[in-house]
Amino acid sequence: MSAHDRDDPRSGIAAELAAITAEGRLRQRPVIDSPCARTIVLVDGKRKRLINWAANDYLGASQELIVRNGAFRALRSYGAGSGSARLLAGGLRLHRQFEQRIAKFLGSQDALLTSTGFQANLAAVVAIAGDPQDAIVLDRLCHASTYDGARQAAGQLLRFRHNDPTDLELQLTRCASARRILVCIESVYSMDGDEAPITALAAVCRKHRALLLVDEAHALGVLGPGGRGLCAESGVRPDLIVGTCSKSFGSQGGFIAADQDIIELLVNRGRSFIFSTAPCPAAIGAAHAAVGWLRDHPDLPDALQTSIQELRRALRAQGWDVPEGRSAIIPIVVGDEHAALALAQRLRDLGHHCPAIRPPTVPAGSCRLRLSVSRAHTAADKRKLLKAMAVVRGEPSGQARMAEETA
Ligand SMILES: Cc1ncc(COP(=O)(O)O)c(C=O)c1O
Repeated sequence: MSAHDRDDPRSGIAAELAAITAEGRLRQRPVIDSPCARTIVLVDGKRKRLINWAANDYLGASQELIVRNGAFRALRSYGAGSGSARLLAGGLRLHRQFEQRIAKFLGSQDALLTSTGFQANLAAVVAIAGDPQDAIVLDRLCHASTYDGARQAAGQLLRFRHNDPTDLELQLTRCASARRILVCIESVYSMDGDEAPITALAAVCRKHRALLLVDEAHALGVLGPGGRGLCAESGVRPDLIVGTCSKSFGSQGGFIAADQDIIELLVNRGRSFIFSTAPCPAAIGAAHAAVGWLRDHPDLPDALQTSIQELRRALRAQGWDVPEGRSAIIPIVVGDEHAALALAQRLRDLGHHCPAIRPPTVPAGSCRLRLSVSRAHTAADKRKLLKAMAVVRGEPSGQARMAEETA
């Protein structure tokens, strides 16, 4: 028997939770009693309607009639569930139609649908770097799903400094003898909203004959020609593009767009695809409709971009440290957990839902508010947010304006 006392198998759980709480890192599950849309009704003791700056529904697709009708049609045609994994009973025609539509939208030979974006990264990394002689080289700030894929994959895991082509090159020389090398980056990073120098990173990958995976979860629908992402904008064709239906496409599901041989390998080796039931018809009906909606309205991201720039500029004018950038994710770094929680609470009191982001999602000391701008936000929503932000900065003018409004 080890030094651990296992008479009570749960011993230590309460202490662990107390330690998480003392660090200001305890997470709970807020309940909302409304659609997760432009505004939400948060049930926190009492019900409170808040303007929602937390969702990733960048185009407001989840509430668009055409997208909702896509879900209804699929539900009517196919029922509630998909019944099985696709390699078992077979996939629905709708699953294949979605793959063909997203592949055409992104200009790739084929695509593979998974139940979430998280599963898409798992499937891709595990399948491509599945041999102990392989290497996976991640940008340090890659999403948890890419890290988890790299940990599950048999290949060796290396990391390079965020957005640094020189350090990527150094890491690639360290694994030069690998059978296959997979480099994973995001085009827009989920917690900082900054863009990767894709052209420079892709050139390093080419030079070292490494495969490149670009996760475009936060760029699709927001950046690039007609919302086709940063790879399309920069003319880079990575070996794999990972995307999700849960952000600009307003639904749920994930996908990998790539050449035929890569997709074939994923079908055969991507465990999170093989051993999981295919996504439900309503979700993919909605996502299918959302991709068609964006394809037919290539100017949808333009209005969003105007809104993003207005908010970034106005927040900077108030003195907040908001970086230059084009993504819909606006980080406001405030430091420690307690400061971030207090700021989020004050904003909630003023009618805004902007949750505090804390470790392990972001590195210690860089806790932040993460504002997520949607095309669905109105001019009045933005005005109210700016007034609240002025109040919490303690600016007398902000307080006066807020008082005027609530009077
Ligand atoms: C960069 C990135 N990749 C993948 C995912 C996972 O996508 P999903 O929510 O569809 O599982 C996320 C979602 O938070 C993300 O931010």
